[in-house]
Amino acid sequence: MNIALLGFGTVGRAFYELALGRGDLRVTTVLSRRARPELRCTVTDRFEDILRDRSIDTVVEVMGGLEPAYGYLCEAMRAGKHIVTANKQLMCAHYDELLTLAQECGVSLRCTAAAGGGIPWLTSLSRAARLDELTAVGGILNGTTNYMLSAMTASGTDYTTCLREAQALGYAEADPTADVEGYDARRKLVLSANLAFGVSVREEEIPCFGISSVDAADFAAWREMGRVCKLFVRAERHDGRISAFVCPTLFPTASPVAQTNGTGNLVTLRGARFGELSFSGAGAGGYPTGSSVLSDCVDIAEGCPSFYVTRHEPKPIDNSAAVSRFYLRTGDGGTCTGPITVAEAFARIERARGEQVFLARLEEE
Ligand SMILES: NC(=O)c1ccc[n+]([C@@H]2O[C@H](COP(=O)([O-])OP(=O)(O)OC[C@H]3O[C@@H](n4cnc5c(N)ncnc54)[C@H](OP(=O)(O)O)[C@@H]3O)[C@@H](O)[C@H]2O)c1
Repeated sequence: MNIALLGFGTVGRAFYELALGRGDLRVTTVLSRRARPELRCTVTDRFEDILRDRSIDTVVEVMGGLEPAYGYLCEAMRAGKHIVTANKQLMCAHYDELLTLAQECGVSLRCTAAAGGGIPWLTSLSRAARLDELTAVGGILNGTTNYMLSAMTASGTDYTTCLREAQALGYAEADPTADVEGYDARRKLVLSANLAFGVSVREEEIPCFGISSVDAADFAAWREMGRVCKLFVRAERHDGRISAFVCPTLFPTASPVAQTNGTGNLVTLRGARFGELSFSGAGAGGYPTGSSVLSDCVDIAEGCPSFYVTRHEPKPIDNSAAVSRFYLRTGDGGTCTGPITVAEAFARIERARGEQVFLARLEEE
C-alpha cells in the first residue's frame, strides 16, 4: 500500500513514525504547507500531484477542518483511492455524501481515530452490530472535560484554574469551546450512533449541555449524594426511534465510569442478547490516535469492505420517551427532579436561559 499523508501535525507525525519500516505499507508522499527537510519521502504543497500519482492507492487525511479536506477526499475517491481520516468534524458534516461516494467509487473509507482516539471503538462497534441488535451506546468520549472534572472532583480546584491547567498541559485548545460545551463529544456520538444503529443522525438535532457553567456548590452537592460527575454521551434505540443527548451525568462514586479519571475515555455498547461491553483507553494523543489510523490502513490493505456498515438511513432524534432523573441548578440552587423525559429536561434548561444554570442526569444505580 502506498500512502499520501495530508497533514503533518500531532497525529500525522506519529502515524508517519509508526508506519516507518513496515513492509506492508509506506508513506510515499506528504502534503505540507511548509518544507519538511527531515522527511525521506516526497513532500508537496500541491494536492494535484497526489491525485495524479497512480502509484498512491490510499490517502490519509489528518489536517482537520471541513475544507479543503472534504474536497480533497472526494477527489481522491473519484480517482479510485482509499481514504483513512481522523476528522470527526468532516465525517459528521458529510457522513451520507462520503459513504455514498465511497460505495459508488468502490473504495474503502475508514475513520476509527475520529471517535475514541486510540480505542478501537468504531471497529468493535461495527463488528458487534453485525452480531447482535445494538440497543444503546454511551460513554466518556472527551478527554479534556474528563481531565477537568476529575481534577475538580479530587482537589476542589475551580473551573477557570482547571481549564488553564488543561491548556498548559496541551489537553485543551486555546479556544476550548468545542470540548467544554460538549460539541466534540457530540460528533463522536453521531458516529457511534450511526454505526451502532445503521442510521444517519444530524449533529445539530442532538441536545448538548457542557460543563462551562459548573461551580463549586455543584461539586459539594454531588459529594453529599455520593455521586461523581462525567460529561457523558448516550444514544438508545427503542421501537425504531433514536434518542441521543450529551449531558453531564452523575454516577455512583464506586462505579467504573466514576473511576475513569484524567484524560481517559470509557465507552460501552449494549446488545439485545450479549449485554454490555465496555472499552477504555487513551481517547487522544499522537501515538494512540496514529495507531488507530495505522490499523485502518492495515484493514484496507487486507481488503475490508467499503465502509463499516452498509445502511445509513436518515433518522430524526426523538428524546420524548427517554426518561431519567436530573440534577437541575437554577438561581434558587440545585434540586433533583423526579423521572422526566430528556426532552423535558432540556426544555426546562432552555426556559431558564440567561440564569446561571446547570443540568446533570442521574444514572440509575
Ligand atoms: N490530536 C489528537 O489527539 C486527535 C485525536 C483524534 C482525532 N484527531 C483529529 O485528527 C486531525 C488532526 O489533528 P492534529 O491534532 O494532528 O492537528 P494538528 O496538530 O493541528 O495538525 C494538523 C496538520 O495539518 C496541516 N494542515 C492543515 N491544513 C492544511 C492544508 N490546507 N494543507 C496542508 N496541510 C494542512 C497543518 O499544517 P501547518 O503546520 O502548516 O498548520 C498541520 O501539520 C483532526 O481532524 C483531529 O480532530 C486528533
